[in-house]
Amino acid sequence: MSNIIKIEGLRKTYDDGTLALDDVNLNIHSGEIISLLGPNGAGKTSLISTICGITKPTSGNIYVDGYDIKKDYRKTRKLIGLVPQEIALEPFEKVLDVIKYSRNLFGYSNDDKHIEKILKRLMLWDKRNKRIVELSGGMKRRVIIAKALSHNPKILFLDEPTAGVDVDLRIDMWKLIKQLRSDGVTVILTTHYIEEAEEISDRISIINNGKILLTEKKIDLIEKMGQKTITFKVSNNINLDHLSKDFDVSITKNQTHTLVNYHYKKTDELFNDFLSHINKLDCKILNIDTNEKSLEEIFLDVVGL
Ligand SMILES: Nc1ncnc2c1ncn2[C@@H]1O[C@H](COP(=O)(O)OP(=O)(O)O)[C@@H](O)[C@H]1O
Ligand SMILES: [Mg+2]
Repeated sequence: MSNIIKIEGLRKTYDDGTLALDDVNLNIHSGEIISLLGPNGAGKTSLISTICGITKPTSGNIYVDGYDIKKDYRKTRKLIGLVPQEIALEPFEKVLDVIKYSRNLFGYSNDDKHIEKILKRLMLWDKRNKRIVELSGGMKRRVIIAKALSHNPKILFLDEPTAGVDVDLRIDMWKLIKQLRSDGVTVILTTHYIEEAEEISDRISIINNGKILLTEKKIDLIEKMGQKTITFKVSNNINLDHLSKDFDVSITKNQTHTLVNYHYKKTDELFNDFLSHINKLDCKILNIDTNEKSLEEIFLDVVGL
């Protein structure tokens, strides 16, 4: 797997002394969707602004498609599309002109076919001659994305793309982001919505206090940290307390039954033994229930809130 972005020992201290990024090391794989997940003030915007060359790093190196962002700023910037957190558009410009102008800024001549494709994909084609002021909030957000895609970037950054957006638009955005990945675009998004990271990412980086706490494939993250609890509801004709000596279980007893909570980990070698053991006992299994940790719980564990 090739890395389209490499970040090495990145630090950012703002003029007022705020340490926003503290030794960030991260490789972004070509063609993936990666979410930078973290609470407000974690350093997400600082990180992507630095990669995009809007904020100067205090120290460390960033390479985009092999180019150093400091030495080859123009080359790296051309490869990148950025959808910023704040909407900033000229109210009286027409949609089509906004997109064309943005493409020209990158030194590309007009490509009507490409622009038509982007506007159609973002459901803005029939609004192309409308002025920004005539559009709804959701449409404005789409215009900003279209703008970021105007020069056909290989990498797209979306800073909190769905913050304060209604459910329908959020689902549309997720669809669009996945479509972009199928076109081979690498997508980096920041979010503080765990649900969003869970829905669309291939990998998730958890960031807090300017530090990347972990970066994992989403599936591995859920599996690795997501301990399951398997609860056996059994008749309480016998005492089961001895189970906790050999197995990672907790037992609660009440008048009608006993609950045996088995704490299952991914590579659990004792679970089979446990099943045979419980089968041999003179008690009846009344019900079995499993409970998996959500990404939300994992996140809280990692961030330590
Ligand atoms: N221009 C700035 N000057 C000083 N401090 C800043 C500036 N921008 C952000 N910060 C601070 O840097 C930290 C990280 O902020 P930011 O990157 O915006 O976090 P996030 O996007 O995760 O909410 C915060 O403590 C924030 O207050
Ligand atoms: Mg931010």
